[in-house]
Amino acid sequence: MIELTEVQFAYDDEPVLSEVTLRVPKESITVLLGRNGAGKSTLLRHCNGLLKPDSGDVLIDGNSLTSKTTSMRAVRQRVGFVFQRPADQLVAPTVKQDVAFGPANWERQIPPDDIETIVTQALDRVGLAGFEDRLCSQLSGGERKRVALAGVLAMEPAYIVADEPSAGLDGDGVREFAKLLRTLATDGIGVIVSTHYPDFAAAVGDRFRVLEDGHIIHSSDQLESIPLREHGIRTLGTISETSAPSE
Ligand SMILES: Nc1ncnc2c1ncn2[C@@H]1O[C@H](COP(=O)(O)OP(=O)(O)OP(=O)(O)O)[C@@H](O)[C@H]1O
Ligand SMILES: [Mg+2]
Repeated sequence: MIELTEVQFAYDDEPVLSEVTLRVPKESITVLLGRNGAGKSTLLRHCNGLLKPDSGDVLIDGNSLTSKTTSMRAVRQRVGFVFQRPADQLVAPTVKQDVAFGPANWERQIPPDDIETIVTQALDRVGLAGFEDRLCSQLSGGERKRVALAGVLAMEPAYIVADEPSAGLDGDGVREFAKLLRTLATDGIGVIVSTHYPDFAAAVGDRFRVLEDGHIIHSSDQLESIPLREHGIRTLGTISETSAPSE
């Protein structure tokens, strides 16, 4: 479980998170909703130590991210982060090189043959079998997202944090990505995603949290019970109305 307890965080003197308490269990998908600027990305960055709280704590399976003895390298392996823009994530020219980057630079030495197998399996899991030699620059936006996810999966994470994974995908892409994340959760991975799209949230989520003014103001396992419009969140049906959400 990832556990954020009474996390407070400010950029310089601008408070963004106030006493945020949130849990991300394994084998389930937690969806974070909230208007632009609510602090969703900031909160997600606390889940793998990209940001550290000013006060409060973040525990990964009981180990505090604020403890000096916690290896951040181990945390980044255990908690994979999928950035909103694949351009922030894809580092190598080809798909194979990109997905291999994490395992090739892992603390424990992995033989090249094993890295090949890891890459093949990760691409298979995201539905991109056979894409090894494709250039990342020539992939569609949806394919790039999948490559980014494959790169995270290649590190065998226990948790995946994905910031707006549905952004920039068309209706089919959103549904397919939701299905993919559901499979990963069924496989035991704990997932947390942020999104502006209730259809994606409904398709993917087990648990829903709304962030506003730095606080979690709604927690529910039923998306229908959350007054979405009141909190600046689109209402259900957005994907079928606009086939290509862009952000
Ligand atoms: N690196 C930074 N330095 C200073 N302020 C920042 C930084 N990153 C974000 N902020 C501010 O923190 C607040 C929360 O931003 P954040 O990106 O976490 O919101 P968000 O809920 O993810 O928004 P969106 O839905 O638009 O992605 C905003 O007011 C933003 O301007
Ligand atoms: Mg954001």
